[in-house]
Formats: sequence, structure tokens, C-alpha cells
Amino acid sequence: MPQLTLFTITVLLTTAAHAYIWPSPQLDALESLRFDTDRHQLAPFVQPCTFFIFEVAGKSGRSNAADWIRTAYHDMATHNNVDGTGGMDASIRFPEEQARAENVADGFNNTLRIVGPAANRYVSLADVLALAAITAIENCGGPSIPFRGGRIDAAAPNAPGVPQPQEDLATHTATFKRQGFSKTEMIGLVACGHTFGGVAHAPFPDIVPDLNDTSNTQSVAHFDGTPVAFDNSVASQYIANTTRNPLVVGTNATTNSDARIFGSDGGKVMRGFASSPALFASTCASLFARMLDTVPSGVVLSEVLSPLPAKPDALQLTLDGDKLLFAGEVRFWNTPDSSSRTVLLLGTDHSNHTFNATLVSAGTASSSSAGAGQTITNAWYSFDDPGVVLDAAAGVTRISFSVYENGEDAKKKTKGKVFDQGGRGFAVQDAVVFSKTSCLTKPNAQPVEGRLDVGVRTGAKVTRVFLEEEVKDSVGRITVVETDFPRPAPAAGNSTSKAYTIWSLPTTQSSAKHTVGAEIDGVKVSTGRVVVLTNLPACA
Ligand code: HEM
Ligand SMILES: *[C@@H]1O[C@H](CO)[C@@H](O)[C@H](O)[C@H]1NC(C)=O
Ligand SMILES: *[C@@H]1O[C@H](CO)[C@@H](O)[C@H](O)[C@H]1NC(C)=O
Ligand SMILES: *[C@@H]1O[C@H](CO)[C@@H](O)[C@H](O)[C@H]1NC(C)=O
Ligand SMILES: *[C@@H]1O[C@H](CO)[C@@H](O)[C@H](O)[C@H]1NC(C)=O
Ligand SMILES: *[C@@H]1O[C@H](CO)[C@@H](O)[C@H](O)[C@H]1NC(C)=O
Ligand SMILES: *[C@@H]1O[C@H](CO)[C@@H](O)[C@H](O)[C@H]1NC(C)=O
Ligand SMILES: *[C@@H]1O[C@H](CO)[C@@H](O)[C@H](O)[C@H]1NC(C)=O
Repeated sequence: MPQLTLFTITVLLTTAAHAYIWPSPQLDALESLRFDTDRHQLAPFVQPCTFFIFEVAGKSGRSNAADWIRTAYHDMATHNNVDGTGGMDASIRFPEEQARAENVADGFNNTLRIVGPAANRYVSLADVLALAAITAIENCGGPSIPFRGGRIDAAAPNAPGVPQPQEDLATHTATFKRQGFSKTEMIGLVACGHTFGGVAHAPFPDIVPDLNDTSNTQSVAHFDGTPVAFDNSVASQYIANTTRNPLVVGTNATTNSDARIFGSDGGKVMRGFASSPALFASTCASLFARMLDTVPSGVVLSEVLSPLPAKPDALQLTLDGDKLLFAGEVRFWNTPDSSSRTVLLLGTDHSNHTFNATLVSAGTASSSSAGAGQTITNAWYSFDDPGVVLDAAAGVTRISFSVYENGEDAKKKTKGKVFDQGGRGFAVQDAVVFSKTSCLTKPNAQPVEGRLDVGVRTGAKVTRVFLEEEVKDSVGRITVVETDFPRPAPAAGNSTSKAYTIWSLPTTQSSAKHTVGAEIDGVKVSTGRVVVLTNLPACA
């Protein structure tokens, strides 16, 4: 078994589509949410898998992990593969959908409250819901699940379409067919989902009585004996006739939907699952992926995301007179800690001259969130204090990294391992940079008033510079509001002798949600530079 699992992981990681070329703002953000396992915004909520943030973990009978998986299914379950409506589109966030009998219970609201904040302008809430389900499954003993990004949040609720336990087999078969799943796949998907969690008394009093159990305060009748672990016991207990699944052996036969579904092929699928944990895991991995990739027609998902082996992060250029201060960090994916490792940043400037700097280890951290019990360690290296000081006129066009392991000496120019995206390097944008001259014009005013200064590189085709703010529209989708910096009057004298021209925006508005963006060569880019007015010094 362990060998098979390792083999599966290796195949998944080595046959995954080519890693994309950095930078790509949306894929970069999705990749981080997926693979920065040690700085994960989701994984801490399913570690341990008994964690239920709304009550003492392990005592309520519930778990964040089970809520997240059920939420993903209910969001997808409105899909109609004939007219192309519904699917993974975060329509479950609408109160109208949550008020339907088919969406009874508070698990959806709970899920959205925890994972919602991970959405941003690049990562839709629907992508977050898909990733939350994957994170729960992978963290709790499940297989690695291929993840694609690019889901789009619905503008309105979808038509109803989630199956309910009192419906008959023909209805369920038709419902799954509408969602795009055959009868065999229906059996699989229900078993894959119902290896987690159970049925709670409060929303389903006719199925589950008050259990009067202080170690199960919400009276959840679990589907199997291991409700926070992905395993095939939902099937093996069913086949052994020891199951206590309330949708199989409930006292009211009408609501025993799992019994009808699991038995609909004479128990063939469930027997297969019961006899092979590996078959259960691989079947569930592909069914979960299909479930999560079921999107409204017209939505185009990305390739399956694979981790970038080396990924620059939080790059910042700050204009300081005739210098550029270059700071940032790099993540080496699945790379263990090593005290004998040297990491060099290699840079190229506008005259094709090169520079280099030795990076500082910013620590490693491990996480078991890669699935199939695999532990991933990411190693981070930074150049943020004080950063690399560059001549502003020379600037920087691209960087790469060179890693020397185990005593190989960088100074002796032994060839290290180079990470440069196949010779391309990692392109760095220095046409529009934050300027250190930004300051508070009225530090004591309420709110404070300040001036944001941005340097625009001479010769760069910059048509706009703007302040960006992430806001939610009327239906909760994140959009960006832009406030233009006025174009400065042409400078008197010879301005082309200066590497950068300053564009200034007087403003009272800037917070952790504000970044600087620009239109360069007709393409909109965000510098990603967060500007918080109150952190600026008073103007001289
Ligand atoms: C005919 C199809 C299905 C029916 C009738 C059904 C019904 C139910 C019911 C009644 C509950 C109890 C919810 C609660 O007490 O809050 C439940 C829980 C759950 N369902 Fe399903 N389900 C079906 C299919 C699926 C599928 C396809 C998945 C995922 C792939 C899934 C995942 C879950 C999970 C993870 C829970 C546990 C929630 C928790 O413990 O918080 N279900 N299901
Ligand atoms: C959760 O429910 C509360 C009210 O019960 C509501 O105020 C809140 O907006 C809901 N949150 C989400 C994320 O749906
Ligand atoms: C729980 O307690 C209530 C009230 O005492 C009782 O009616 C009910 O039957 C008990 N439930 C079980 C499963 O014992
Ligand atoms: C399964 O167990 C129940 C009691 O728990 C029993 O009534 C039933 O006959 C058993 N079914 C089979 C097929 O063994
Ligand atoms: C069984 O469940 C169905 C559907 O919820 C309900 O209509 C029926 O009254 C229940 N039967 C009994 C005996 O409780
Ligand atoms: C720098 O090198 C690239 C190719 O490596 C070339 O296209 C470019 O013209 C060079 N720029 C300068 C300023 O020499
Ligand atoms: C790094 O820069 C130094 C000084 O500019 C130079 O001597 C050295 O060869 C460079 N190292 C690499 C690996 O490019
Ligand atoms: C402006 O300055 C640049 C660089 O110092 C110089 O090459 C150029 O001739 C100057 N142009 C004028 C009009 O003075």
C-alpha cells in the first residue's frame, strides 16, 4: 500500500501539465493558495480533522472538514448539464439557496464564514470552495486531487437541484444524471462524500434522535466509524452489515437514501470499495475532481495546477532617489531545511549586466496537506532587509535563482542548481514603482491626508497609474475600483536624464486593501504594492 500511494503521488506530480510561466497574477494566487501549504489560509482549519471552529473540537460530533465537503457538493448540485446552468459557482452563498429545504442546516454558512476571506480579485469564492473541499479531503487521509482554477461566482441563485434523503432512487438517478454522473458514479460519489461526517439531529430530527451524548453535543449520527477520516470504512461497514449509517439503517425506510443508492447495483461498487482502499481512493479522487470541475457552460478552467519548483513572492521595488530597493522572497517547493545550502538571487538589468545577492533563509515549514499522507516542506528565502540596492537607471528586468547544496561553494563558482524557468528567468516589472517620497501631508487630520508618489520609468510606455481597492459588488463578488493618479506636467528642462518621473496622488484613502496598479504597454498590471497611508512618514 505505501508503495502504491507513493507511486500515485509521483505520477501525479510528474505527469501534471507543465508548470505555467511566472508571473501570471491569477495562477500565482491560485498556486499559492494550493501549494503554500505551510502558509495555508485553509489547512489550519482542518488540522486536526476533528477541528470544528464553532464548538469545542471533537465534542460536537461535527467538523469543519465535513462541512466543507458537503458545501462543495451542494454548490455543484444545481448543475444542469443540458442547459449548462449551475455548478461550482458559489451560488450557495445566496440566502435564497440556503433557505431551501434541500440546503437545511448551518454548514454552508459556517463554511463561507471560514473560507470566504481567502477569496480575492484573482481567486473566486467558487475556487475557494473547491479548494476548501480538496484541502479537507487531502488533509484528512484522502488522495491528492487535481485542482484547476478559474471558476466564476454566480450573479444570482441557481435553480434548485440538491438531492434529499426522502426522494426515491429514480429521482436520485435522474438528479445525478442532470449533474453529469452515471448511476455507477452516483454510488461512488455518495460513498466518497459520506466517508465524512454524518446526519445531525437538529436539521433532521426525523432521521436522528437527540442522542443525549455529551461527547456528541449536536447529536450527529455518523456515516461510518471514522467520520473525520477519508477511508473506505463507509463501504466495508456497509458490506459487513455493521454500518450505523443513518441513511442506510435509519428506522424510517423512506429516508434511507444511501441504502437505496448503495444497493442499486446489487452492491457491486460498494464491494469493490470495501475490498480495496486503493480503488476507493483513486475512484474518489477522480469523482471529486469531476464534481469540483462541474461549472456553468462558458466557464473555462485552467490546466491542472502543479507547483512551481521555485516561486518569487511579494517582490517589491521602492524608488529611493537614484536607487531602487529590491526586496522579496522565494519559495522552494517541497524542499527540506538545510544549513549547508546557499541560495543566490541572480538579476539582469536593462543593460544586460548581472548582479547577485545571497538570500537569507526565512525558514521552512511542513504540512501534511498534499494528500495521501504526503508531507510537504517548503523552504523560503528572503532578501527583504535591507533588500538589494540597485542603481535606478540600470533597473532590473529579470531574476533567477541558483542553489548550492551540501558544501558546494558559491564563491568557487561550482555550478549550482539554477531555477530560471527554462532560461527565461522570472520577469520583473520596474516600469512603475512605489516611491519612498510618499508621505503624510496632514498627519494629524482625521482621516490623515497624504500623498502617494509612484516612480514611472523614463521610456516605459505607461499610460495610466492608479490606486486599486478590492471591494465587493452588490452580490458579493470581488472587483477592483481604480482611482487614477494625475499625469504630471512635463518637467521643465531635461527630464530624460532622470531614470524615473514621479506621479503623485493626494489622498485620504489607503489601507491594507489598496495597491498600486498601472497600464504598461496597453496591459493592466498590479504592482501588488500595498499602500497603507498611516504607515507613511510625515512629509518634510
Ligand atoms: C442522494 C444524494 C445525497 C443525499 C440524499 C445526501 C444527504 C445527506 C444528509 C441528509 C446529510 C446530513 C446533513 C446534516 O446533518 O447537516 C448529509 C451529510 C453529508 N453529505 Fe450528503 N447526501 C447526498 C450526497 C452527497 C454527496 C455526493 C456528497 C459529496 C461528494 C455528500 C457529502 C456529505 C457530507 C460530507 C456530509 C456530512 C456533513 C457534516 O457532517 O457536517 N453528500 N448528506
Ligand atoms: C451567516 O449567517 C448570519 C446570520 O445568521 C449572517 O449574518 C451572515 O451574513 C452569514 N454569513 C455568510 C458568510 O453567509
Ligand atoms: C434523549 O433524552 C430525551 C429526553 O430525556 C429522550 O426523550 C430521548 O429518548 C433520549 N434519546 C435517546 C437516543 O436516548
Ligand atoms: C444485517 O444486520 C441486521 C441487524 O443488525 C439483520 O437484521 C440483517 O439480517 C443483516 N443482514 C444481512 C444480509 O446479514
Ligand atoms: C418517514 O419519513 C417520511 C419522509 O420524511 C415521512 O413523510 C413519514 O411520515 C415518515 N414515517 C414515519 C413512520 O415516521
Ligand atoms: C539584452 O539581451 C537580450 C537577449 O539576451 C537582447 O535581446 C537585448 O537587446 C539586450 N539588451 C541590451 C540593452 O543589450
Ligand atoms: C556575484 O557577484 C560577484 C560580484 O559582483 C561576482 O564576483 C560573482 O561572480 C557573482 N556570482 C555569480 C554566481 O554570478
Ligand atoms: C538630456 O540628458 C541626456 C542624458 O544626460 C542627454 O543624453 C541628452 O542629450 C539631454 N537632452 C537635452 C535636450 O539636453
